[in-house]
Amino acid sequence: MAILLDVKNLQTRFDTEAGVVKAVDGVSFHINEQEIVGFVGESGCGKSVTQLSVMQLIPNPPGRIIGGEVWFDGKDLLKYERNGSEMRSVRGSKISMIFQEPMTSLNPVLTISEQIGESMQLHLRLNKADARKRAVELLSLVGIPAAESRIDDYPHQFSGGMRQRVMIAIGLACNPRLIIADEPTTALDVTTQAVLLELIKDLVKRFNTSLTLVTHNLGVVARYAQRIYVMYAGRIVEAGPTNEIFAHPRHPYTVGLLKCVPRLDQPRDKQLVPIEGLPPNLIKMPPMCAFLPRCAYRINRCEKSHWPPLTPVGEHHSAACFVNLEATLENDDK
Ligand SMILES: Nc1ncnc2c1ncn2[C@@H]1O[C@H](COP(=O)(O)OP(=O)(O)O)[C@@H](O)[C@H]1O
Ligand SMILES: [Mg+2]
Repeated sequence: MAILLDVKNLQTRFDTEAGVVKAVDGVSFHINEQEIVGFVGESGCGKSVTQLSVMQLIPNPPGRIIGGEVWFDGKDLLKYERNGSEMRSVRGSKISMIFQEPMTSLNPVLTISEQIGESMQLHLRLNKADARKRAVELLSLVGIPAAESRIDDYPHQFSGGMRQRVMIAIGLACNPRLIIADEPTTALDVTTQAVLLELIKDLVKRFNTSLTLVTHNLGVVARYAQRIYVMYAGRIVEAGPTNEIFAHPRHPYTVGLLKCVPRLDQPRDKQLVPIEGLPPNLIKMPPMCAFLPRCAYRINRCEKSHWPPLTPVGEHHSAACFVNLEATLENDDK
């Protein structure tokens, strides 16, 4: 499988009154062509800032990308001017983003037709009539009934779920190579969430698009993603194929996340336990593993060493932990 997006050692900071927030601290990952990749972790661990950095959408000030490379189509996107024409073309047509809150990303004073049509006129050079025609097709495709008559409505005339369908249509409009969906369904009720995730999955498959699926819900990634990156405190702490991570998690944080999602492959009465404690303050980070204070498996070495690097623990599986977790968990089971 060919690599579509290759991110190396990305570092993003925010300058705040309380100090410098290390929101993304040396993150490397890749997305293959036609692949669905999940990013998981609790709120505040750097998932969104990572994706926004890829798109150069970090507000500056207070944010700054201070290092790293973002390779896409043979180019390092971080070499492009933030608001230059090359970066705008990447954002408009090659990589699109779907956010959690469609109401904040849709323009309230433009009709749906204008919003979908705009980028197609700009990036696909369609005339107004053709853009409108394609916008109607796209709305039907994402399951908006009577698309022809709804195309001139304004965002507030749609329900939350329907607005998110519009966002998906906009995301698909210019045939992007990659869609980054950041908690695309988190704000919606559970039933709508499931329907929309299925829709997104079917559409990316149909259009051969890759998908980065950001979510705090490991259950969602388990169902849709082929590979997972687990983030904690601005870093990737575990990466690997979804099956492998569910069957053999190698970072205590991943083990913690797995214990708080309902699993179909386990008895229903098995207790769900949240991870104790809170994620660290990203301003004053100690040099050791950031998960240490919450870790049930910590060993002496953890307190005496700097944060462990992400190290291979299997063929395509890596984890940033000193503990031989597999052996430890096996003993626990005995
Ligand atoms: N504009 C900002 N100013 C200051 N800090 C920010 C800003 N945006 C994000 N952060 C901080 O960056 C860290 C990572 O945030 P984020 O990527 O949004 O987390 P996630 O998406 O995983 O919930 C958090 O500590 C957050 O407070
Ligand atoms: Mg987020």
